[in-house]
Amino acid sequence: MTAPVSYTVTGRIGTIVIDSPPVNALSHGVRQGIIECLKVAEADDTEVVILRCEGRTFIAGADITEFGKPPQAPTLAAVLAALESHPKPIVVAIHGTALGGGLELALCCDYRLAGATAKVGLPEVNLGLLPGAGGTQRLPRLTGLEQAIDMITTGRSITAHDALTAGILDEVCSGDPAEGAAAFAKALIDKGAGKRLTRDIPLAITDDDTALLSQARDTIAKRLKGQTAPQRILDCLEAAGTMTFDEGLVAERRAFEACMEDPQSTALRHLFFAERMASKIDGMAVGTEAQPVKHVGIIGAGTMGGGIAMCFAQSGFSVTLVDQDQEGLERGLGIIKKNYEISVKRGRLSAEQVEGFLRNLEPTTDWQRLQNVDLVIEAVFENLELKQSVFQKLDNICAADTILASNTSYQSIDALAAATNRPDRVVGMHFFSPANVMRLLEVVRGAASSDTTLATAMAVGKKIGKVCALSGMCYGFIGNRMLRHYGREAALCVMEGASPAQVDHAMERWGMAMGPMAVGDLAGLDIGYRAREQLSDEEKGPRINFLLADRLVEAGRMGQKSGAGYYRYNPETRAREEDPAVAEIIDATRAELGITPRQVSEEEIVDRLTLALANEGARILEEGIAQRASDIDVVYCFGYGFPRFRGGPMHVAESRGIQSVVDTIARFHGSLAAENWLIAPLLARLAAQGGRLADIGR
Ligand code: 3HC
Ligand code: NAI
Repeated sequence: MTAPVSYTVTGRIGTIVIDSPPVNALSHGVRQGIIECLKVAEADDTEVVILRCEGRTFIAGADITEFGKPPQAPTLAAVLAALESHPKPIVVAIHGTALGGGLELALCCDYRLAGATAKVGLPEVNLGLLPGAGGTQRLPRLTGLEQAIDMITTGRSITAHDALTAGILDEVCSGDPAEGAAAFAKALIDKGAGKRLTRDIPLAITDDDTALLSQARDTIAKRLKGQTAPQRILDCLEAAGTMTFDEGLVAERRAFEACMEDPQSTALRHLFFAERMASKIDGMAVGTEAQPVKHVGIIGAGTMGGGIAMCFAQSGFSVTLVDQDQEGLERGLGIIKKNYEISVKRGRLSAEQVEGFLRNLEPTTDWQRLQNVDLVIEAVFENLELKQSVFQKLDNICAADTILASNTSYQSIDALAAATNRPDRVVGMHFFSPANVMRLLEVVRGAASSDTTLATAMAVGKKIGKVCALSGMCYGFIGNRMLRHYGREAALCVMEGASPAQVDHAMERWGMAMGPMAVGDLAGLDIGYRAREQLSDEEKGPRINFLLADRLVEAGRMGQKSGAGYYRYNPETRAREEDPAVAEIIDATRAELGITPRQVSEEEIVDRLTLALANEGARILEEGIAQRASDIDVVYCFGYGFPRFRGGPMHVAESRGIQSVVDTIARFHGSLAAENWLIAPLLARLAAQGGRLADIGR
C-alpha cells in the first residue's frame, strides 16, 4: 500500500500531497503522514511549502469512522499546531470540497487558493457537532461574525468565488489549482513574504455582533428546535470575540467533546452512514451497471407527476410530460410555473435558470413522443386497472430496453409488470409529496425487477438529488406501511383522552416537523377513508383505530382542502385552530364505543407513536422488505419529517435498548385495542438473545 501522504521538492518549493481515497479524510495515517512531511520540509532548503490533495476532492474533514474510538496520536490538534509553528509559509491548493477539519486545516495555513469550481464549508452541525479544530475561532477572524454564524450554524458550503469575497481565500485559480499554487508560491518567494497566521487577526465583539448573536439564538431555537449543537456553536463564536485565541480554542474543545457525547450527534452520525448505505443493494451481481438515462417520460401532470418533472428538468434531463388531455397538461404546467415563480421571487432561482429548466420540459398529449425515452415514470390516478392499461400502452410504444417505473403508493409492482412483456424492466419509484422538495425516493423491487433496472433507478435518483432506499413489495412499501401504525396510535391517543392538539404538540416538541393530526389534515382525511373502503374488515383492523377519522370525513371535514379536519383552518392565515366542533365529534365517538377519557401524558404519546413505528419496522426488517434497519431510518428521516437528530425510529428503539422496547410495548397491551400491540417476533427474539437491530441483514 502506498503512503497516503507524500512530499516532493521542485526547486525552492516543497509539496505535500495527500492521496487517501475516497475523500482524503484526516485519518490517523493522513495525520501522521502530514506531520512526517512537515518535518522533512523543515529540514530541507525549500522556502515555501504547498499542501494539496489528489483524487476527487480536497480533505472532506475528520475521519468520521474514527469517531467514538480511542483517539490515536497524532491528533488533529497536533497536526494544526505543526502547520502553524512550521517555520516556512504554507500555501493550500483546494479542489473539490474543503469541508470540516479540511477547511479548518486550510485556515491554519498561511495562504489559501482554490479552483473555480471548489467549495468550502463547515458542515459539522449536520453531524450534531461543531468545528472542533479551531474553525469557530479562525473563521470569524477572516470573515467577520455574521458570515461565520451563517456558515457554521447551517453547515452550508459556499463557492470559491464567495469564499474569496468573504476573505477565506487569497485567490481563485481559473485553471488547475496545483499550478496556481506553484505560481503563487514562487511569487511569495520573490516577495520574500513570510508566515501569516489567522490566529493573529484581532476580533473584538461589537454591540452589533452581540445583537447578531442574540438574534441567531432566537432564530435557531425556533428553526432547529431541540438541537444542541447550533447553540453550542454560538457559544464558541461568542468566545472567539470575548476571549484570547488560546482560551477560545479550549472553550471550543470542551464544547466539541460535549457534542460528541450527546446522543443527538450519535443519531446524526448514524444517519450519515445510513444515508450512504441505503443506496447499496445487497447481493447485486458484481459488475452490474446502471443503464444510461438522459431522456425521461412522465405520465400524469398532477401533484406528483409535476413535481417529479421539475426534479428531472432542473437536473438537466430532457423530460416529456404526458397527460390524458390538454386541460390536465395545462393545469399541471401552470402549477410548475407558479412554483418556479415563487422560487424566483424568493431569490432561490434566477429567471434564466427557470427558463433553462422549462426548455428541458416537453409537455404533450401525444404518447408517440415517448418512443425514444430511456425511463418512464407513471404518476396517474391510484387505480390498478388504469395503471395496468398505461403500462401496456407504454410497453407497446417505448423501446425494448426502456425502464418503466411507477410512482404508485400502494399498487403491486408485480401486477404492473404482468401487464408488460418486460417485467424485468419494471420497478417502483415512489416519490414523496412535494416531489420537488422531499429528499426520499423508495425504489421498489418487483419479483422480476433486474439488477440493472434497480441500479438504474438508484443512480437516476442520486442524480436528481434524492436519498434512495430499496423496498421490497408489500402494501404501502416501507414508509406508508409503517405510517398506518403511527397514525393509528395518534388516533387512539385521542380516543383515550388526549386532544388532537395535545398529540401534535407532543410530537412536535419531540422534534417531528409536523404532528400526525396536522399531517392528516394536510394530506386529506378522505384519502385514508377511500383507501379503507377497498379493505376487508380484517385488513382494516379494530374499528376504534379509524372510527374518529371516518366520523370527521362523514361530517365533511376532509382536512385543509375543505377548511377543516382535526382542526379548523383560518381562511386568511391558513393557521390551524382547535375547533369545539371536533371536540364534540370526539366525545360522541368515545361515547359510541363506551370509552371514558383519561389523562394521556406527553411521554406516553411519544412512546406509543415511535414504538408503533419501530414495532412494524421490525416486522418489515424480518420479512426482508427492508434490507437493513438503517434503511428504515433513512425512509423516515427523509420522507416523513422524523427528526434527524433522533436518528430514525429503529435507532430510537436500538438506543433505548430492545428489552426496554419490548417491556414498554407489553405495557401498551393494557391500552384499548391490545391486538394492535402484538410484539414483532424479531424484537422478542433480539430481547431474549441480546442482539441488535443493526446486525440484521448484515
Ligand atoms: N470521514 C470518513 N468517511 C467519509 C467522510 C469523512 N469525513 N466523508 C465521506 N466519507 C465516505 C462516505 O462514507 C462514502 O463511503 P462509502 O463509499 O463507503 O459509502 C465515501 O466517503 C464517499 O462519500 P459520498 O458518497 O458522500 O460521496 P460524494 O462524492 O457524494 O460526497 C462529500 C463527497 C461532499 C465529501 C461528502 O462525502 C461529505 O459531505 N462528507 C462529509 C463531510 C463532513 O461532514 N465533514 C466534517 C467531518 S467532522 C469534522 O471534520 C470534525 C472536525 O471539525 C474536527
Ligand atoms: P393527481 O390526481 O394529482 O394527478 C394525476 C394526473 O394523472 C392527473 O393530471 C390526470 O389528468 C393524469 N391522468 C389520469 N389518467 C391518465 C392517463 N390515462 N393518461 C395520462 N394521464 C392521466 O394524483 P397524484 O396525487 O399526483 O398521484 C399520482 C400517483 O402518485 C398515484 O399513484 C399516487 O398514489 C402516487 N403518490 C401520490 C402522493 C401524494 O401525496 N399525492 C405521494 C406519493 C405517491
